[in-house]
Amino acid sequence: MTKKQVEESLEYLNKRGFESPEIGIILGTGLGQLVSEIENPIEAHYNHIPYFPLATVEFHSGKLIYGTISGKKVVVMQGRFHLYEGYDFLDITYPIRVMHGLGIKKLFVSNAAGAINLDFKKGDIMLIEDHINLQGGSPLAFKNVVEFGDRFVDMSEPYDLEMRKKVEAIAQKEGITLQKGVYVSVVGPQLETKAEYRMLKILGADAVGMSTVPEVIVANQLRLPIIAVSVLTDECDPDNLQPINIQEIIEIAGKTEPKMIQLFKELIKEI
Ligand code: HPA
Repeated sequence: MTKKQVEESLEYLNKRGFESPEIGIILGTGLGQLVSEIENPIEAHYNHIPYFPLATVEFHSGKLIYGTISGKKVVVMQGRFHLYEGYDFLDITYPIRVMHGLGIKKLFVSNAAGAINLDFKKGDIMLIEDHINLQGGSPLAFKNVVEFGDRFVDMSEPYDLEMRKKVEAIAQKEGITLQKGVYVSVVGPQLETKAEYRMLKILGADAVGMSTVPEVIVANQLRLPIIAVSVLTDECDPDNLQPINIQEIIEIAGKTEPKMIQLFKELIKEI
């Protein structure tokens, strides 16, 4: 990956009218419907943006959408890339570098995760305060990384404190239960064994998922303030582990979606 590639992606998007967005948003599970809130949308399919990772068949709807929400200019990623689909760390984080190049000043991320902390319940929302990277690699481990910023990136406070406080205040005002904790990222796509859930708990994780951490690392290299919120879709109790029920996970994510959207819309308004 080179700066020149990112510049070509930017040239394409600028020509299409992606003009100085303030906020970038990665729509993970639980936030998909935020798309319907975008006013005056302009769309760019991932497959048409130079140097963007090529979307798989399953993922043909992946696109960047530019527009306004609550009066703020935003650029939204509908669909993200995962390691478990066969993409590498550079593919997954390429869109972050492009959104940063477009001029975003803040980045919001959502995802679905399993609750390791058994005080947390299915359908709860968790604000990520810190993370553990168990994906076995880094999106900064490439030869010319210094073209883009530091190599030895500080990770002492990876999730923006000021925006976290805002999210907490919004949740309190809106009567939304907000858990807080440590997110551990794994490659997937298989779910965890009982022994693995036990291990993750001992390591200090409150929730486990298969995304987000690479994007957060790159945002920190770019000094781009970021926050991330998880929808907790299943309870990972190793002493009472039920077989995975994807249908139920999707259902729970869907039910939680209005709360997530409310939280994000308020945050967009306030910053
Ligand atoms: N493990 C990993 N990823 C997940 C889980 C889980 O239990 N639930 C939702 N995403």
